[in-house]
Amino acid sequence: MPNSPELITDLTQLAQWVQAQSAAGLSVGLVPTMGALHAGHLSLVESAAQHSDSVLVTIFVNPTQFAANEDLQQYPRDLEGDLQLLQSVAKVTVFAPTVADIYPLENSTARNVESNKLDDVAMRWEGERRPGHFLGVTTIVHKLFTLTKPQIAFFGRKDYQQLRVIEQLTEERQHNIKIVGCPIVREEDGLAMSSRNAYLTTAQRTQATAIYKGLQTACNMANNMEMAATELQDVVRKQLANAEINGIDYVAVVHPKSLEPLALLDRTEQIKQIKLGAIILVAVFVGNTRLIDNIFIPPNNS
Ligand code: PAJ
Repeated sequence: MPNSPELITDLTQLAQWVQAQSAAGLSVGLVPTMGALHAGHLSLVESAAQHSDSVLVTIFVNPTQFAANEDLQQYPRDLEGDLQLLQSVAKVTVFAPTVADIYPLENSTARNVESNKLDDVAMRWEGERRPGHFLGVTTIVHKLFTLTKPQIAFFGRKDYQQLRVIEQLTEERQHNIKIVGCPIVREEDGLAMSSRNAYLTTAQRTQATAIYKGLQTACNMANNMEMAATELQDVVRKQLANAEINGIDYVAVVHPKSLEPLALLDRTEQIKQIKLGAIILVAVFVGNTRLIDNIFIPPNNS
């Protein structure tokens, strides 16, 4: 039987572990998570195991990235289950700190001082719909980078905007860390794996399959014919409407780096930009559950 991974719960222990890796000349691959692990998270851990000597998985439901009306209290927590899942991957250590360890000052002046200048990439889409979200994400990721000193860190393309924000944070804060974006892991029917899928009823779970279907249909159309961003967005919206997903937060064809909406350009320019490669971002409510997904439209040279 494989053993449970080593579990570190306090900062002193963590500092010792980090020091020991460095002294032994072992590279550290970091996988930050909020727990309730599924195969999507595991794929990041497996990549980390391939690319580094030691893997550190952090499990921390970060309160500062949840807005007051969001699901912080309800967010699934299952440390035992998470540790069990991680048994399948060698060389994993888990760091699961307390809120007090990470945020020692309750009224966080420190957090404001530490806050990063959030530029356009962080202000759009999720940034606009979830005020404060990326400030919370960048605060925790910056803290984790500083505390754990990895050479390489792994994030999912499932949260594509988060990945772009973290790439920018890394550059701006001059963390000498390679950021790797990993592919989206999906259920058999295409729904992107997410800890929040657990909130869905059976009927909603069926409805939710329309998200990836819409994205795939639009992506295939973009690959095979000249489509404007506005037209591709309509294709996705139609699939969502067919499944009676009415709570659409946004459906947007965007530039893969800046995340600027291509729909604002004139039609010829939209088509030209899509041919250079684009991303379709989607955020919807299925019942009360907010789900996000995206698809990459590869460059098309024909
Ligand atoms: P969490 O939602 O737990 O996700 C942890 C990491 O797993 C993120 O990089 C996310 O993009 C990735 N991930 C989740 N579902 C995935 C899927 N289906 N396929 C591939 N990767 C997937 O994202 C967060 O936590 C937090 O914001 C965090 C970065 C840990 C900061 O608190």
